Amino acid sequence: MKFTYFGHSCFSVEIKGKKILFDPFISGNELAKGKVEIDAIQADYILVSHGHADHVADLAAIAKRTGAKVIGAYEVVSWAQKNGAENIHPMNFGSASFEFGKVWFLPASHSSSMPDGSYGGNPGGFLVKSDEGTFYYSGDTCVMMDMKLVPMYAKLDFAIMPVGGNFAMDAADAVMAADFIACNRVVGVHFDTFGYIKIDHEWAKKKFSDAGKELILPMIGESITL
Ligand code: NI
Ligand code: MN
Repeated sequence: MKFTYFGHSCFSVEIKGKKILFDPFISGNELAKGKVEIDAIQADYILVSHGHADHVADLAAIAKRTGAKVIGAYEVVSWAQKNGAENIHPMNFGSASFEFGKVWFLPASHSSSMPDGSYGGNPGGFLVKSDEGTFYYSGDTCVMMDMKLVPMYAKLDFAIMPVGGNFAMDAADAVMAADFIACNRVVGVHFDTFGYIKIDHEWAKKKFSDAGKELILPMIGESITL
């Protein structure tokens, strides 16, 4: 599966020729400047974990330009619609099937409000199961017992989880989470963007390798095959 990193917690995957974008936040990311061209990002679907600005800042603009279907909590999707997204699929915790595969919207232990201060519903993460691979994106969260349910839904090929600490898991926490979700291959996100979440990459990778796991810290603008 092709995975492209746009910085912070924004990435896309390609399944069955469909481009699925997650948590679009590029314009406000200093680290992405000159590395990502927002208007060149393609999307057939946009999956949004929660309402915080560092996950939705470019949501409405990309949704409007691409016509991508916006999937996420009812409140987040309604906000996107109010801001011009026409193609929407609201969810709450549960699952739904799409042309690329099955999506579970699962709880995250975090908070969620929209940039205009309106209620953002419950924060969550996504489990995506497809013929071309299965992965879990936790969204912003601490480690939590609910993660132990993930391998009961599906066997993962890889996971995407925060490793920047402060607002969500750091790398040591993410190793615990990786055990809970029974996955040894993790792509780290939500790191380095702001002062609070700057990390030592070598320390983070060692936490994983000491536990017999792999941590991938992608470069902004880079595509990798997972
Ligand atoms: Ni957040
Ligand atoms: Mn965040």
